[in-house]
Parts: sequence; C-alpha cells; structure tokens
Amino acid sequence: MIDVHCHLMPQIDDGSQSEQKSVEQMRIMAMGGITHAFLTAHYMQGVYDYDRSEYDAKLARMRELARENNIAISLEQGFEIYLHPKSAEEVEHSNLTLGKSKYVLLESDLNGLPPDFYYNVFPLLRKGYKPILAHAERYVSIMKKITRARDLIDQDIYLQVNSGSLLGLYGEKVRQTAWVLVRNGWAHLLGSDDHGRAPYGSYFQATELLQEDLDGQTVELLTQDFPQMILENKAIPHKYVYIQHSHSHSHSHNHRSKSSLWDRLFS
Ligand SMILES: [Fe+2]
Repeated sequence: MIDVHCHLMPQIDDGSQSEQKSVEQMRIMAMGGITHAFLTAHYMQGVYDYDRSEYDAKLARMRELARENNIAISLEQGFEIYLHPKSAEEVEHSNLTLGKSKYVLLESDLNGLPPDFYYNVFPLLRKGYKPILAHAERYVSIMKKITRARDLIDQDIYLQVNSGSLLGLYGEKVRQTAWVLVRNGWAHLLGSDDHGRAPYGSYFQATELLQEDLDGQTVELLTQDFPQMILENKAIPHKYVYIQHSHSHSHSHNHRSKSSLWDRLFS
C-alpha cells in the first residue's frame, strides 16, 4: 500500500515535530504493509515558510533514518499546496509534484471551494500537471452538494479521501460525504493525512472498513493501483468502474487476481 498524503516530514509544518516521531510512525506504516509514502508537507507561504532545499535535505535525512532503522519504506517527495493564483508557476519553478510525476496535491479553503478554485487549477492543467484535491470530503461546498465532486472530476481533477474521514474523525457529515465519494467511484486515492499526533493507524482501519463495506478491489485501487500510477506517472482514469463483489467477499481478496481486475477495468 502507498500513502499519498501524510505530514511526517519532521519540523517543517504542523505535522511530525521530531525525527523520532516520524521514525515511530514509519515503523508502524511498514509493519502494516505500507511500502511507499509521499511526505506531503504543507506548502503555504506566509504560514509554513521553509526553503525548498531544506525539504530535500530533510527527505535525504529521513531516507537515511529509514535505512538505519531497517524500515522498508520508500519515501517520496510531496507537497500539499494551498492553491492560489500563482500556484502553477510555483509548482513549475520549485518542483512541487508528487515524486517525479506530474501529479500535484492541492488544498483550498475548507469553508467552501472558492469561486476562483477552477480558475487557479486551470493553469496547472494547461502546463500538463495532474491536480488532486486533498480530502475532498472536507469541503463544505462538496458536503452541501455532493455532485460538485463529480463536476470536479469532469474538470480533470482527482479526488483524495482521508482515512480518518471514513472513520468519522472529522465529524458525521464529513464521514457520510467520504463514504458517498468512495461508493460512487468518485474517490481515486486514500491518504492518511497523518500529522504524527497519535500512533499511525486510521489508514489501516479505513482499509478494513472499505474491505467490509465495499470490496477488496476498491481497496486495491485506492491504496495500491492508483497510487502506483502516480509513482510511474501513468494516467489514473478519472472515471473508473466500480465492480460489485459477491457477498462471499470476506476472504476473496487473498485470492484475487490483480491482472484480471486490470483487464476488466481498463481493457
Ligand atoms: Fe494534509
């Protein structure tokens, strides 16, 4: 599994406050089956000010710490960019993508996507970037009008859902919204958005719930197949087909064939 959204780069934003904490979290992640993590630090000038080279130095340090502690997890660069009119220029100038891909993780005002949201996303699309809206279920405008999510997908924006939202950690309305997104096939990626405040865990709990309530194939898409396409800079389908599992699903994921899933979905 691949966590596409976490704040475990130490002392760079409001996430992990020490290298030790980050190592602790990474140890749990690896034990639970996470093989890759994008360390998506907030990128919001005037709030979290750090030098872009400082991020690279910290990433190298974290990779070293993972090696020293025998934690088998590949750490990838990433930023959660607070969208504004100059975001496209900044992404290009400061290399703010997820890993070496063209994917970019974006956030905006949670009180409601501002009217100029798409106006600011468009320059990114024009430059060939692939925008992902972080924790889409937490935006008031999406909670109030769920079809807004589909509109964003129609505008070539991918949607990421927080594992904690599926568990209800941000309240009931956010929880319901998150479930509608995954059930409708409007969520492309699962992320922990872990800030190192409690032992890493919501990601694993959410995958279990998804497994029980939906099916193992959805879990596979959101936690493995789609994030893997970010690592490889392949195009995740904006619209994908949700395949209903039979009711004997509880153990079927142990025997599922990934290639046949792919054949059915994308051939
Ligand atoms: Fe975040």
